[in-house]
Amino acid sequence: MSNAGDLSGRFIVVGVSGGIAAYKAVEVCRQLVDAGAHVAPIMTPDAERFIGKTTLSALCSEPVHTSLWDDASPIPHTRLGQRADLIVVAPATARVIAAYAAGMSDDLLTATLIATVAPVVVCPAMHTEMWEHPAVQHNISTLRSRGVHIVDPEDGRLAGGDIGRGRLAAPESIVAAVRRVLAPTQSKLAGRHVVVSAGGTREPIDAVRVIANRSSGKQGHAIAVEASRRGASVTLVTTADFTPVSGVRVVCVETAAEMKSAIDAAATSADVVIMTAAVADFRPVPIAEGKWKKEDGVPPIVLEPTPDILAGLGAAKRPGQVLVGFAAETSNLVENAKGKLARKNLDIVVANDVSQPKVGFGHDTNAVTIVTKSATHNVPLADKHTVAAHVLDSVEQSLHPTQEHP
Ligand code: C5P
Repeated sequence: MSNAGDLSGRFIVVGVSGGIAAYKAVEVCRQLVDAGAHVAPIMTPDAERFIGKTTLSALCSEPVHTSLWDDASPIPHTRLGQRADLIVVAPATARVIAAYAAGMSDDLLTATLIATVAPVVVCPAMHTEMWEHPAVQHNISTLRSRGVHIVDPEDGRLAGGDIGRGRLAAPESIVAAVRRVLAPTQSKLAGRHVVVSAGGTREPIDAVRVIANRSSGKQGHAIAVEASRRGASVTLVTTADFTPVSGVRVVCVETAAEMKSAIDAAATSADVVIMTAAVADFRPVPIAEGKWKKEDGVPPIVLEPTPDILAGLGAAKRPGQVLVGFAAETSNLVENAKGKLARKNLDIVVANDVSQPKVGFGHDTNAVTIVTKSATHNVPLADKHTVAAHVLDSVEQSLHPTQEHP
């Protein structure tokens, strides 16, 4: 099937930074122009060491922009940032990725990235050692958590003859990602209210000490970002720091009791509730008003059960509401998940085997089994944003079509 003209009327800024893969940006621009888009190219000063300005100017819909200062319009970054329907950065070097993640605007490309509210697609390209450096991975993860789309680099031949991960994705893959991001949202979540809990609760022992757990909140935050990207209005009830994202209302809590009252309040209008949080099952009975002193001896800590938030929601579930629970297990994953599904009156249980490497608490990656009443679906080890997309695909399948908004 031909895609000719399917991007007509779209204003796309293509940012090219200084890597050997800059030559592939020429092909990306050409394919976008062929699809009918208006393509405005930006080059960083180092990109000019790899390809000529004339090439991009000749192929694109307007001459290449290179500087904050010598453009015909006095503030090119805001003009380009505001007009853009989408910005794609290909190739994105470690420097551009770091500047964007840190909010630094030291050239026209990074200034434009910070001056836009349009969706952004970042296509990294660099040597394997650089791609795998913790600083680069941290910056990529920061960008993902803000809703930036990343087109992962591929394995293959790199500059200087080395072979490994880091090669810019093929122009066809980059253009396909642009099309996916610009496609009108077909999501059943558009216009719905999705409530997500995240993080581990902290239950006070006295005024300074708590009982906590190892949950980082990363999986819940990734689900909130993805739900917002699909057009849902999201309430995120979290115990962990969360970088603000448009479309996500954040309620910060600490204890299971605070989480329960925030979730219960939000759930009255929720179409979907996803309890990703690791809620304490037990909390200490208060032992002191202030701090329990060392001189007072070993504290007499007695635990009492916390309310099960999700079971409460399950008991009061409205027709059409979808409830999702998480289950951190170390054995009998599917069997335990099915038990939880029935016991708490849930629609979906997302089970992870936290005894496996790189799975669950604290990691940027996860591997899960999604269990519904009628099916189980394995999601192999992937970053938590990919896992979030699978969980929400499953939620969309559970949303009853008759409940759809117009
Ligand atoms: O039965 P279990 O506690 O393992 O169930 C885990 C699921 O229940 C998670 O989704 C968790 O967020 C939720 N939960 C809850 N309230 C609790 C304990 C767990 O909502 N007190």
